[in-house]
Amino acid sequence: MKCLIVYRSHHRMNTQRVARAMAGAAGATLMAVDECRPEDLDGYDLVGFGSGIYGGRHHRDLLALVDGMPQKERKVFVFSTSAGLKVEHHRALREALAGKGCRITGEFRCRGEYRLLRLIPVSRGHPDEKDLADARTFARGLSTP
Ligand SMILES: Cc1cc2nc3c(=O)[nH]c(=O)nc-3n(C[C@H](O)[C@H](O)[C@H](O)COP(=O)(O)O)c2cc1C
Repeated sequence: MKCLIVYRSHHRMNTQRVARAMAGAAGATLMAVDECRPEDLDGYDLVGFGSGIYGGRHHRDLLALVDGMPQKERKVFVFSTSAGLKVEHHRALREALAGKGCRITGEFRCRGEYRLLRLIPVSRGHPDEKDLADARTFARGLSTP
């Protein structure tokens, strides 16, 4: 199975750590979203999209990439790190992917430390070793039925 993981991470590089753990476990290619054009997704059996959550949704660059994708049946998965865990965080990206004909085969989320006013830690220490182990387990379970 050829798997690509596209991610955007900038606040504390939390999502990059999760993306790297997943890529290592699944033997996936890793690409930062700013290096990725819609045509780069072709040729993969499965594409993962992940970022931190900012203002209740994935990073706008990730949503813009999906916006620029042509209609095509694709298997995809979605992941995120965020200070608090909410199901709604994935809604905008999920809907955007579904609108492009993608089938979402899995979702992963874990906490990611946030520094309020650059000082006060929320969800301190996340993603921790358990979060990264969970991310690896999730990635190993990805398949293309
Ligand atoms: C501008 C900004 C907005 C954020 N908004 C949310 C939010 O709406 N909900 C939430 O749970 N976390 C929010 N967070 C916390 C981040 O989602 C969390 O720290 C995440 O792990 C950052 O990922 P990154 O280090 O890969 O960029 C926000 C962080 C920033 C910097």
